[in-house]
Amino acid sequence: MIETSSTAAPLIDGFGRTIRYLRVSVTDRCDLRCRYCMAEQMTFLPREKIATLEELAIIAERFVARGVRKVRLSGGEPLVRRDVLQLVQRLGRHVGGALDELTMTTNGTRLRDHAAALRDAGLRRLNVSLDSRDPDRFRHITRHGDVAQVLDGIAAARDAGLAIKINMVALKGVNEDEIAAMLGWCVAEGHDLTLIETMPLGAVDEDRTDRFLPLTVVKERLDTQFALERDAAQTGGPARYWRVDGSATRLGLISPLTQNFCDGCNRVRLTTEGRLYTCLGHDDHRDLRAALREGGVTALDAAIEDALTTKPRRHNFRIGRDEGPAVARHMSVTGG
Ligand code: 5AD
Ligand code: SF4
Repeated sequence: MIETSSTAAPLIDGFGRTIRYLRVSVTDRCDLRCRYCMAEQMTFLPREKIATLEELAIIAERFVARGVRKVRLSGGEPLVRRDVLQLVQRLGRHVGGALDELTMTTNGTRLRDHAAALRDAGLRRLNVSLDSRDPDRFRHITRHGDVAQVLDGIAAARDAGLAIKINMVALKGVNEDEIAAMLGWCVAEGHDLTLIETMPLGAVDEDRTDRFLPLTVVKERLDTQFALERDAAQTGGPARYWRVDGSATRLGLISPLTQNFCDGCNRVRLTTEGRLYTCLGHDDHRDLRAALREGGVTALDAAIEDALTTKPRRHNFRIGRDEGPAVARHMSVTGG
């Protein structure tokens, strides 16, 4: 189990924020190519740059020993990494002990095969990305995905007893007319729904400005069709929540560009390469894998301390023409 020596002090950054949440991108690869996320021809990390699952586990467990209560595995698509279940099972052993929750963000294409094993490993909830339930539109957004496969995976996950939160990126002129129907479907199925504004992360083939849809607009539209009650729940993240009246469904809105959420931020991100980014909106990072390889857990701890001093007060996202992405790396490298 996890070592909790007196040196294992909680992680507090320079602005007094305690780090409780670690996101781990287990691979930068994906079997889909969502237009807002990736270019059609993506260059992925060469194999030798990718941290082993063992290294990711050691690093993640070090964070858990230092007070992190929630770990989310993401990517890329985590389920395309071979043997990823070994990592899930290893971290899953801490759930109910040092960890309150282990969870995953997936695109759902391989969920049918993995749902039961994820549940057995200790997962209770899953975020599934689904920007459209229309087959043609889904294929357009993902460049070749089959929505039936994803819907089948979601059903399998629900049958396995996993609570589902759908992540939908709100895209102007692409799926904006489907948002209310998606919320209606989530209410009928018992899922939660989180809507996300496009974020300027990494170069893609199209101009994201054309697709940017402020969620303030979306919320006004939803208010005409649903009775939405503000839910005070705070996760230390960028989402604000509403309850859909008369249902179990919670609606979350993630507006990184129009809302500032940084004061309560409790999270850091570990990349596929084993680097720690303390903010999705900044390029500053520390190479934890290098530290681990060179000096073991002592050096790892020192590198984590050092990384924490780089956590900025707030992100610097902006979206606009002629500016290029605010951050050069793709979401798939750092994890969403
Ligand atoms: N902007 C907004 N959302 C994104 N995602 C991936 N890239 C971006 C981006 N540039 C979404 C995915 C997934 C979630 C983790 O982030 O669709 O649902
Ligand atoms: Fe893959 Fe998710 Fe990116 Fe789509 S948004 S390409 S599913 S990582």
